[in-house]
Amino acid sequence: MSKVLPSNKIYSIKEAIQLSKKRLPKLVFDFIDGASGDEKLSEINSLALDQIRLEPRVLRNVEKRSLKKKFFDYQFDYPFGFAPMGMTNLSWPGADIMLAKESAKNNIPTCVSMASTTTLEKMYELSEGRSWMQLYIFQDENFVMELIERAEKTGYQTLILTVDVPVLSRRTRDDKNGFAYPFKIGPKQFFDFATHPTWSLTTLFKGIPKPMNYVTSKSGDGIFKRKESRGSTDFETLKRVRDKWKGKLIVKGVMSPKDSIKIKDAGADAIQVSNHGGRQLDSATAAINILPLIRKAVGEQFPLIFDSGIRSGSDIVRALALGADYTMIGRPVMYAMGADGEKGLKRIVEILKEETSTTLGLVGLNDINDISSEIVAKEVIGNTKY
Ligand SMILES: Cc1cc2nc3c(=O)[nH]c(=O)nc-3n(C[C@H](O)[C@H](O)[C@H](O)COP(=O)(O)O)c2cc1C
Repeated sequence: MSKVLPSNKIYSIKEAIQLSKKRLPKLVFDFIDGASGDEKLSEINSLALDQIRLEPRVLRNVEKRSLKKKFFDYQFDYPFGFAPMGMTNLSWPGADIMLAKESAKNNIPTCVSMASTTTLEKMYELSEGRSWMQLYIFQDENFVMELIERAEKTGYQTLILTVDVPVLSRRTRDDKNGFAYPFKIGPKQFFDFATHPTWSLTTLFKGIPKPMNYVTSKSGDGIFKRKESRGSTDFETLKRVRDKWKGKLIVKGVMSPKDSIKIKDAGADAIQVSNHGGRQLDSATAAINILPLIRKAVGEQFPLIFDSGIRSGSDIVRALALGADYTMIGRPVMYAMGADGEKGLKRIVEILKEETSTTLGLVGLNDINDISSEIVAKEVIGNTKY
């Protein structure tokens, strides 16, 4: 079998964005890149990370750098994994499989969305057991419980319950493009697909992406109703999931220190601080701004994961400095696969690894586990906006 080399087209996430914008139908690129409301929050997430400046340290011998990071009982090789994303195969046919294999190769976790385009069983097998299952609670709780049972039977040990989509926010670009699932192909969409023939023909050849966990379900109707309300999810629901799931439970999409304390007390094993990459409450604050407050609320030892806005290795280091134990990457991997398929994904993972390692060395550390708020620059003139 020929070895896939990393893409030689991508040198940064910015480039992956530009390339994927050219290669993907507009409707698909906008689904990935888009955000809620005025879309400012997805930008603010990254701008706020950017505002955190680090302090270079010198004369420290940083030859033996290690990015190995323990989370729960797992010893991962790098401090980042792949965030759960539904309909991933839209970014490129076979995207889920690329993510699963890349997670096995790098010994990092890949989160499998309940709306994933590959079954949770296949993802677990291909990631060699490094998959974490993500769920929303829709109205049909039977289906959710069936997925929990399937995950347990497959061998999954970690479940993510996403709680920041009680109602699906309005995404202007999706509305304008007529993005719907199942696809509705009118003249506008037909023109969009026709003018992006590489994606369209590959997708036609490999099969239109389907939400495979739904398609293979025994209890549900097999249909993923993206716009169905998830509004009845509450602390009672969390309790039911906690009672049912014996493995590790992560609650994702938490942006309030008060909620964090209640979720910790309700028996969650970890919290994922996230504003869904700016795709939900558009008037929320940047996820990174709330991270230190949540860390303070839950205490030093409670496991915290961070996502939303990470666009470089420096951002990973920044999140760890502000209180995260682990980070998740969302859109960048979708852009990378949209730009250059498997090669693009490999390239972005290499870039993130290299940038994280370089940043670690430049702040004077060898071990990623030694990162603390100590590495944040203490500026004489405060509040400089760059
Ligand atoms: C196309 C797309 C689909 C997503 N689908 C899900 C999902 O099914 N479940 C979930 O918990 N989060 C989902 N998310 C949110 C991500 O898990 C993550 O929180 C977010 O992308 C992080 O922000 P970033 O994209 O700025 O890195 C999705 C995000 C994108 C971009």
